[in-house]
Amino acid sequence: MSLLASTLWLLFFFSSSVVHSGAQGSSRGSLGDGICASSVVVHGYKCQELQVTTADGYILSVQRIPEGRSGNGNNNNKKQPVIIQHGILVDGMTWLLNGPEQNLPLILADNGFDVWISNTRGTRFSRRHISLDPSTPAYWNWTWDELGSYDLRAVVEYVSNQTGQKIHYIGHSQGTLIALTFFSEGKLVNKLKSAALLSPVAYLSHMTTELLNVADRLFLDQLIKTLGIAEFSTRGIPFQSFLKQLCAQPGVDCSDLFTAITGNNCCLNSSAVSLFLKNEPQSTSTKNLIHFAQIVRSGVVAKFNYGRRDQNIRIYGKASPPIYNLSNIPHDLPLFLSYGGRDALSDVLDVQTLLDSLKSHDADKLSVHFIKNYAHLDFIMGVNAKDIVYNAVISFFNRFN
Ligand SMILES: *[C@@H]1O[C@H](CO)[C@@H](O)[C@H](O)[C@H]1NC(C)=O
Ligand SMILES: *[C@@H]1O[C@H](CO)[C@@H](O)[C@H](O)[C@H]1NC(C)=O
Ligand SMILES: *[C@@H]1O[C@H](CO)[C@@H](O)[C@H](O)[C@H]1NC(C)=O
Ligand SMILES: *[C@@H]1O[C@H](CO)[C@@H](O)[C@H](O)[C@H]1NC(C)=O
Repeated sequence: MSLLASTLWLLFFFSSSVVHSGAQGSSRGSLGDGICASSVVVHGYKCQELQVTTADGYILSVQRIPEGRSGNGNNNNKKQPVIIQHGILVDGMTWLLNGPEQNLPLILADNGFDVWISNTRGTRFSRRHISLDPSTPAYWNWTWDELGSYDLRAVVEYVSNQTGQKIHYIGHSQGTLIALTFFSEGKLVNKLKSAALLSPVAYLSHMTTELLNVADRLFLDQLIKTLGIAEFSTRGIPFQSFLKQLCAQPGVDCSDLFTAITGNNCCLNSSAVSLFLKNEPQSTSTKNLIHFAQIVRSGVVAKFNYGRRDQNIRIYGKASPPIYNLSNIPHDLPLFLSYGGRDALSDVLDVQTLLDSLKSHDADKLSVHFIKNYAHLDFIMGVNAKDIVYNAVISFFNRFN
């Protein structure tokens, strides 16, 4: 998905947060609780709140669920660590909104995995830094590129250090982009056993909805003018006025933003959706949205374009930002990809472009699943995701243990 997508996503969130404001009292997900307390321990699982500091000073919150409810017996085999990485504008909580039989982290724990939930910089439990304050622009001076080269790196190294084992990775949406680009440079691959990519996002040329297109046209320039490098939050005034403007455009239907932004999700539970609306969206940086918009407009996945030759030369040593060549992902890294036919953000044609770049991948190390009636959020919140997606991920991981 793209910037617009994100935007919209936000919009959607914002509008719903208006509707739902005042409903924050629920024990689950209120800001005072950590994720372990609100969403894991309540179901009878052990859970540890941990902190991981990135090389550029961001202090990330990570939750570890070391075993299943039963403790999984006295099995002598060391448990396989799995890192779970959320997408843009949400945090690790979104994996935990369904009951324990339906949500990915607890299903993995019950299947004998040692589960680590990562929360990227800027989301509500990962807003600390060794020296920068989130109220300053310097704190928000990053894009998805840094979420790979700093956040993902730090979490993988931390889990690797703690467990002494190679790791399985699961990413959703932006969580797949940061992995794909990072792996294409050969980084961290030696610490991983395999990666599962749900709603994979890399190329973004095929967004077709009028809402997204208008947002992209309107949004970027306005955003840069009004905000510069800053926190992007749906609760801010600039966003609210943007939303009003956007919804007044001909052809834009804001009556069902949720569907307009994420696609027609088949299988969401309304209780989980209302928890989702209470908990999300999370902030990201304006620079990150601009970087997504660059992918949409240029059709290539590249590092951030500063828009000025001299600045690109200063940062990259050349006039245009380096392009990521996804064909360079090591061909023997086991990869599982699952994508949906109704996903408005991870469009089927864009996934095809991604698969084309993986055509030299070892055939027995690449498993691709197409789910016709799934949209973006079904992968994290679908009531039947266990049967349709998660069991297949677990079998895939078990092949490479
Ligand atoms: C953001 O980082 C770039 C590249 O390092 C730097 O040139 C710029 O001054 C930084 N901007 C802010 C607001 O910190
Ligand atoms: C992991 O261990 C290495 C080697 O001891 C150390 O340099 C690195 O800082 C550790 N990383 C984390 C994130 O703990
Ligand atoms: C939806 O969520 C509620 C509350 O967690 C649960 O009681 C119900 O069984 C769920 N429905 C389905 C179809 O999973
Ligand atoms: C990407 O890398 C592959 C080999 O890994 C190479 O064949 C291809 O030409 C590269 N593409 C670009 C655009 O550099």
